[in-house]
Amino acid sequence: MPLTFRKLHPQFAAEVSSIDLRQVTDPETLLEIRTGMDEYALLVFRNQHFTDEEHLTFAQRLDGQLHTKTGISALQKSRLGNEALADVSNLNANGEVYQADERKRMYGLGNRLWHTDASFQDPPGRYSMLFARVVPPVSADTEYADMRAAYDRLSDEMKARLEGLHVHHSIAHSRHVLGFEFSQTEQEILKGAIHPLIRILPRTGRKSLYIAAHASRIIDWPTPEGRLLLLELIEHATRPEFVYRHSWQVGDLVIYDNRATMHRARPYADTTYRRELRRVTSLDVEYDIEQAGTAPH
Ligand code: OGA
Ligand code: MN
Repeated sequence: MPLTFRKLHPQFAAEVSSIDLRQVTDPETLLEIRTGMDEYALLVFRNQHFTDEEHLTFAQRLDGQLHTKTGISALQKSRLGNEALADVSNLNANGEVYQADERKRMYGLGNRLWHTDASFQDPPGRYSMLFARVVPPVSADTEYADMRAAYDRLSDEMKARLEGLHVHHSIAHSRHVLGFEFSQTEQEILKGAIHPLIRILPRTGRKSLYIAAHASRIIDWPTPEGRLLLLELIEHATRPEFVYRHSWQVGDLVIYDNRATMHRARPYADTTYRRELRRVTSLDVEYDIEQAGTAPH
């Protein structure tokens, strides 16, 4: 049965009609989801029932190779035992809510800055698939901003100025902004990566702004003015007209295209209430869509 898409925001984001993604193995439906991603950049699937293994398997089936070099893996091994499965929770190794001063909590607070996943790696992240297992009784939302609409709305003069520029992205930078310290060894692992400031999305030809809290400097313009321009672009791109706010329900899977969106976690009483999300992110590398129906597991 063909999928239907209900728009959640004037620019982007849609909720997809009821479907159990564990059962989606046919190329036609996978193609419908990818086409939906091309159009909306963010899709919400309600009432999913993934185990970790099923989540990982679906992510590979939809978009190929997975990202494993998460920032947090430079600090310590995941409590989930697989670096492709990001532990987006406020729980320590014993499954208890973090104390306010725990280092991993401090690190995780960086998610409250506008960012894109894995932009500090090369290849960077493409699709992130974020799944809600436990949500608190208070709102603990995630905001997403459409970087294609933000690009379109720039003046022609600004578009011309940005063309051809490259940006260094580093997770050490976004954490330093918050006063988080890395050891020498950690910094060596987290050297960062360089990416174009303007990206062209291959299947649609649309352009997007590729910026994030990880964006430390414009390589071609390493002066305070270059840094101010990055801050100005983030401010522009996260104006309310470009932002969709997702209120999580247990069982939600949100797939977002990191080439076309930024996101941030909103604050909540995280030392009081449990919140447990899991994220799998694919790598922005060529993927043979013809292979789509043949799941790796
Ligand atoms: C992430 C992330 C935001 C949130 O998983 O990459 O930024 O609200 N999550 O937990
Ligand atoms: Mn993120």
